[in-house]
Amino acid sequence: MGKYQDIFDRSIKDPQGFWGEVAEAISWEKKWDKVLDDSKAPFYRWFVGGELNTCYNAVDRHVEGGRADQVAIIYDSPVTDQIRKITYRELLDQVSRFAGALKGLGVGKGDTVVVYMPMVPEAVVAMLACARLGAIHSVVFGGFAPNELAIRIDDAKPKVIVSASCGIEVKKVIAYKPLLDKAIELAEKKPQHTVILKRPQAEATLAAGRDHDWDELMSKATPAGCVPVQATDPLYILYTSGTTGMPKGVVRDNGGHAVALRWSMEYIYDVKPGDVYWAASDVGWVVGHSYIVYAPLITGCTTVLFEGKPVGTPDPGAFWRVISEHDVKVLFTAPTAFRAIKRDDPNGDYLKKYDLSGFKYLFLAGERLDPDTYHWAADRLNRPVIDHWWQTETGWPITANCMGIEPFPVKPGSSTKPVPGYNIKILDPEGKELGRNQEGLVAAKLPLPPGTLPTLWQADQRFKESYTDPYPGYYFTSDGGNIDDDGYVFVMGRVDDVINVAGHRLSTGSMEEVIAHHPDVAECAVIGVTDNLKGQLPLGFAVLKAGASTDHGSIQQSLVQMVREQVGAVAAFKKVAIVGRLPKTRSGKILRGTMRKIADGESYKIPSTIDDPAILGEIETALKEVGYGGK
Ligand code: COA
Ligand code: AMP
Repeated sequence: MGKYQDIFDRSIKDPQGFWGEVAEAISWEKKWDKVLDDSKAPFYRWFVGGELNTCYNAVDRHVEGGRADQVAIIYDSPVTDQIRKITYRELLDQVSRFAGALKGLGVGKGDTVVVYMPMVPEAVVAMLACARLGAIHSVVFGGFAPNELAIRIDDAKPKVIVSASCGIEVKKVIAYKPLLDKAIELAEKKPQHTVILKRPQAEATLAAGRDHDWDELMSKATPAGCVPVQATDPLYILYTSGTTGMPKGVVRDNGGHAVALRWSMEYIYDVKPGDVYWAASDVGWVVGHSYIVYAPLITGCTTVLFEGKPVGTPDPGAFWRVISEHDVKVLFTAPTAFRAIKRDDPNGDYLKKYDLSGFKYLFLAGERLDPDTYHWAADRLNRPVIDHWWQTETGWPITANCMGIEPFPVKPGSSTKPVPGYNIKILDPEGKELGRNQEGLVAAKLPLPPGTLPTLWQADQRFKESYTDPYPGYYFTSDGGNIDDDGYVFVMGRVDDVINVAGHRLSTGSMEEVIAHHPDVAECAVIGVTDNLKGQLPLGFAVLKAGASTDHGSIQQSLVQMVREQVGAVAAFKKVAIVGRLPKTRSGKILRGTMRKIADGESYKIPSTIDDPAILGEIETALKEVGYGGK
């Protein structure tokens, strides 16, 4: 039996023994009483009775343990033309002072803090400062519009919001403060305070009494120490798109999270303390939480915080420049970034300009890695290109080719095998386990390993309805796929209304809610269609009310503008087809799958349940008008 199989089998047969041993790599204030409490299944709790502080594990213990002068964060920002290196000692100083500043604003254990920041080191400092106090952070991605931020403020009810005067998108300066002000105006639960990092690229007007200047608070702050919390206490809430306009508040605990992430660095990514690790994502996404901030810092690595894009900052050699300049061992990004590089530098000429001798692995996740992109990257890089699959909910990889255990041959299109801890099964719609090579729903037998979501923020019922009620005894991933004869998992895509645009997870439901508010729209639908660069793009369909304006062009324009303003530019919602009616089943369900196939120019069968087949011809015509279908 191979090494992988041994470790995997043990993790499933004896999860308590397995994770109990793994947990020794973390510094505990008090050891746990029980590794796994399954008495309230499907709500599982890891390391019950244990106490620790995540910030202590990510910062203090490295300073105490001899890494004080090692660089913790390399801030590489081509958009502001600067590189800043922060040692663990400096990070400790900043984090403990910012924790003191938050404490001064009344933040303590169990309070929530929203962080709405661009990719600057202060975003990491704010997250760690919350962890230090036992407060719960909720980072909101900067590309979301005020309305989306307001929804998250109302749900998380933060005492304080930490933000900045602006973000920088290639050359565009995006003023964040007006967006924040608007969100606070829209929110019902107003925060007592905000802290604003003033960046030289944009001014920010501060409201007296409510808004505080980051630098001023830091200069006066008394450093605060680490507050021990229960392993099961929440470290953060991260909102992610579900099928409705109300995002799901994924909760992460402290203990299981630290244990799982620390393990994943060595066994999945083959990364050791002291190595330079780079996740080219954003702190607003789960990849940023786990692999820009917590996993590399808990492991004592140097993490790269890159404020730029794979192309345009300034050229498609940006990734190679960063890898070479900082001696990056592992790069983790989304396939879309590679499609962008491939588009601008098809022969990989920029790659040849840099010394990449220290670069060992490229890991890709966030969306399906299409075989073309895989081959392009693997052929040019000449080193392992590893597809791995996971979700905001799990916080760390579910399937991967574990480079620190036993590398397997790559099968393009597959994210290889289940990671130890994840007992993956393929189910039919009735919940029966399917055999090898049979396409079905991907599920994981409960319990999930440590570090995965214990519940949704103040929404236990929604947690059950979304994840564990559909197939009792399993966690339902909402992805479809199959497992082949060699045990390789192929994840084919979502079976719900969540779409993936340039690696950003978005809800078509939230866009539909916006469109439905247009006075001329009677009914609408948004689907995800294939896009060569971003993987998927949203495409709208609107049925107009009788007597609506006949100026379809201006209705389409205003719908695009509404989604941009209310969901955010990141949705990349650019096209709406005006149709006479939507194709539906006789019971009234919109046939989104058929619409998607028509838009993608794929062949399709007319569903036997369709109310009126003639409508599909009308859909084809409307789609052609907006540039889709008809292949
Ligand atoms: N703050 C404000 N606006 C933001 C933003 C942020 N943090 N992030 C993105 N936006 C805006 C962009 O400026 C753009 O606006 P525009 O419509 O005015 O041009 C829009 O949202 C879409 O942005 P993006 O998805 O980044 O698309 P792009 O066309 O600018 O770039 C890629 C395409 C592929 C280069 C880019 O998506 C990319 O680098 N992706 C990497 C994948 C990634 O990081 N995934 C995260 C999960 S691992
Ligand atoms: P997020 O929660 O933003 O990480 O998005 C999770 C979703 O992205 C998953 O449910 C999948 O649909 C998709 N996804 C992520 N990684 C992969 C991958 N390697 N292969 C296929 N789909 C992926």
